[in-house]
Amino acid sequence: MEACKCGEKWQELDKIIAAHRNRPQDLIEVLHKAQELIGYLPKKVQVAIAEGLGVSLSEVYSVVSFYAHFTTKPKGKYQISICKGTACYVKGSPQILERLEKELGIKAGDSTDDGRYSLEVVRCLGACGLGPVMTVNKRAYGLMKPEKAVAVLQQYQ
Ligand code: FES
Repeated sequence: MEACKCGEKWQELDKIIAAHRNRPQDLIEVLHKAQELIGYLPKKVQVAIAEGLGVSLSEVYSVVSFYAHFTTKPKGKYQISICKGTACYVKGSPQILERLEKELGIKAGDSTDDGRYSLEVVRCLGACGLGPVMTVNKRAYGLMKPEKAVAVLQQYQ
């Protein structure tokens, strides 16, 4: 099982769970709060929430896997998102993603071992005219090409 990097936040998590004890209907709200607090939802956190709210672990797991918003892996210091909405897709975002996966040695949805970068695919970011678009910690970069995307990464070393 993956180690939880949530040590010092555990007490706060306990308080959140206590405020919703035996209230299975609050599951999504509690998951949101827990992810806001810790940054992600490792198994240990899911188990604590399941026990506290009185729901099964499989129910917690299915909610976490259903909503793209929830993640079970820690995000990197720099969160790179590649838009694969239709406009960006046809303008070449798959090639950009492939190039960054190669550069970072990870697949979309993962983080580098040093915790510096995480890579994810997102749907339309609302800047289709500037596609393909990538973002790094919410800062947007448009008209990307594979090598240009690697150059952007180098600004975040
Ligand atoms: S499809 Fe990428 S910004 Fe709209």
